[in-house]
Amino acid sequence: MTQDIAQRIAALVDELEEHLYRYHVLDAPTISDQEFDLLLAELQALEEAHPALKRPDSPTQRVGGAPTSDFPTVRHARPMLSLDNSYSRQDVEDFDRRVRQSLPDEAVEYVFELKIDGVALSLIYQDSLLVRAVTRGDGVQGDEITANARTIPTIPLRLRQPGINCEIRGEVYMESSDFAQFNAQRAADDEPLFANPRNSTAGSLKLQDPNLVAKRNLRFFAYWIHAEDGSQTRHSECLETLRAWGLIVPEHQRCASLADVFDHYDRYATTRAALPYEIDGVVIKVDSLSQQERLGYTAKSPRSAMAYKFPAYQARTRLLDIHLQVGRTGAVTPVAFLEPVRLAGSTIARASLHNADEIRRKDIRIGDTVLIEKGGDVIPKVVEVDPSERPDDSVEYAFPNQCPSCKSPLTRDAEEAVARCDNPICPAQLRRRLEHFASRNAMDIEGLGPAVVEQLVEQGLVKDLSDLYELDVASLGALERMGEKSAQNLLDGLARSKEQSFDRVLFALGIRHVGATVARTLTRTFGSLDALCKASIEELEATHEIGPTIARSLYASLPALPALDRVLYKLKNKAKLQFEMEAEEAAPPSPFSGKTVVITGTLSGYSRDEAAALIERLGGKTTSSVSKKTDLLIAGEKAGSKLAKAQALDVAVLDEAAFIAQLKEAGVA
Ligand code: IVH
Repeated sequence: MTQDIAQRIAALVDELEEHLYRYHVLDAPTISDQEFDLLLAELQALEEAHPALKRPDSPTQRVGGAPTSDFPTVRHARPMLSLDNSYSRQDVEDFDRRVRQSLPDEAVEYVFELKIDGVALSLIYQDSLLVRAVTRGDGVQGDEITANARTIPTIPLRLRQPGINCEIRGEVYMESSDFAQFNAQRAADDEPLFANPRNSTAGSLKLQDPNLVAKRNLRFFAYWIHAEDGSQTRHSECLETLRAWGLIVPEHQRCASLADVFDHYDRYATTRAALPYEIDGVVIKVDSLSQQERLGYTAKSPRSAMAYKFPAYQARTRLLDIHLQVGRTGAVTPVAFLEPVRLAGSTIARASLHNADEIRRKDIRIGDTVLIEKGGDVIPKVVEVDPSERPDDSVEYAFPNQCPSCKSPLTRDAEEAVARCDNPICPAQLRRRLEHFASRNAMDIEGLGPAVVEQLVEQGLVKDLSDLYELDVASLGALERMGEKSAQNLLDGLARSKEQSFDRVLFALGIRHVGATVARTLTRTFGSLDALCKASIEELEATHEIGPTIARSLYASLPALPALDRVLYKLKNKAKLQFEMEAEEAAPPSPFSGKTVVITGTLSGYSRDEAAALIERLGGKTTSSVSKKTDLLIAGEKAGSKLAKAQALDVAVLDEAAFIAQLKEAGVA
């Protein structure tokens, strides 16, 4: 019986991995998503019923790995070097000359390969099974992120040829369209945006929870192998081998001459915007592995390969105007309005000008012909002006000293280049704040989009957030294109929003640095706005995931809120929004209630993050350093200086067994 089940599991694993390969690698699926899901569900059910039969290469291993708090550091068997960069034909010709001089009388062939703009990763396979994935780190040692790598469908859990022991290196990347979608979602959630797919890939690989990584649509190109019984003699054969083993390799061509290399380079330089992923150049590699060996390495890079980078995408156009945008926290940023121009596959009509200093330094003037560039960033920037094209009547740009919306004087912090409007009732800020308040991940108020917000502010119906809750059918009747039905819809939406939980309300208030995630953390830690406003800077700083900068900024802006802010008072007491965590969310009394706890050393049963989450659920608060305020230290294996300090300060200490006993008593373990 068990044998039958083991056989069925093996068959399902093989079949499912084959379908994943056909879908992700060959781009030629042979079954529907629904059929695939059925097979996967069958496998999951069998594995759940017979955990001992679960296989390491099962596709179910691609999701559901447990979160970790720290990635172990692992030393690379061979250092992960980088490549020398070149930016001109001359550089490449010099490289070719050096290569040929070192290999007199030998024919040299090159492989031309795309240089993927992603993050390098090393994969270790033993007996064809993926056993470890390690980031480049400092080149000598990196982070072990195997659980995260397993979620990437184009990384085989098992190679398609048995019995292979090898290391494979390649690049993890995100396709441009996946990146755009991901950033759009972050914008909607009011999370900071990633500048480019590479940063977003790096950020994703560092996530502690593989379930989140699985949602990021990461992909993998393999470009290097070191096999124990390496039978390949050429790099081009290595790429073929990688393909045969089930990996995807970057587009490449063998080139007998430099002229071929330059032809390919020129072709990709003009067509690269059409690729679904970003490349920042090409790599030229000596094809023969024996020649590669003999050319050897410098301290940083192989002498047998060279990156030939593309220039950043640039275009020239006219600067029609400079507009100041006022954000919801009052930050005023200058934006260049341009004569629309094509750049890197899209039409560009706006570019970033950063701040007043930048405009002055580059002497950017309205009417100038400017060079714009799309580097790694989402929004292009103005690189320089062309003074030869400057109109005779051009005048230096004077950065306004008044808010474009409310005309109050702009201020600038000594250390910040940003100009700010400090007027709390500035209509532009108010509009941004209302839009944010109503947005999907904040109060999610249906019928309160930008157009309605604009009218509400313009007509003077809403002067602050709390006015929203005083609107009625009669006052809304004054708005254009707002029939009775839409007015009622909006009022219903507002009424429903009163039920939104405290973390959403906190996020919706639009306090600087308080995005959706920080709001949830603060809610869990402090429970109510009153408690949050009374928090000391140390308590804020010690809050999980909140760094010193955010803590300081929060500390500066919070205490003034409830006492001074009439708006908050009204939101809380008249509109009756939720300003506390709901009773059932709040922690039941426990040995950790109200305690400040530090976790140190290695726990075998929990990651540090899991332990911290449990303590927080039980009403405790975790901080990272031991001080007089610490009530309790949880000391795992190899606890070091924190344990010594706790003992010196007479802080109570629990070992892991005692900790688990307490968790059990509280009913969470
Ligand atoms: S070969 C000795 N091939 O570029 C390094 N690298 O600056 C051998 N990269 O760290 C790397 N595409 O992360 C190679 N087709 C490709 C590549 C590639 C992207 C990255 C890789 C490397 C960096 C070098």
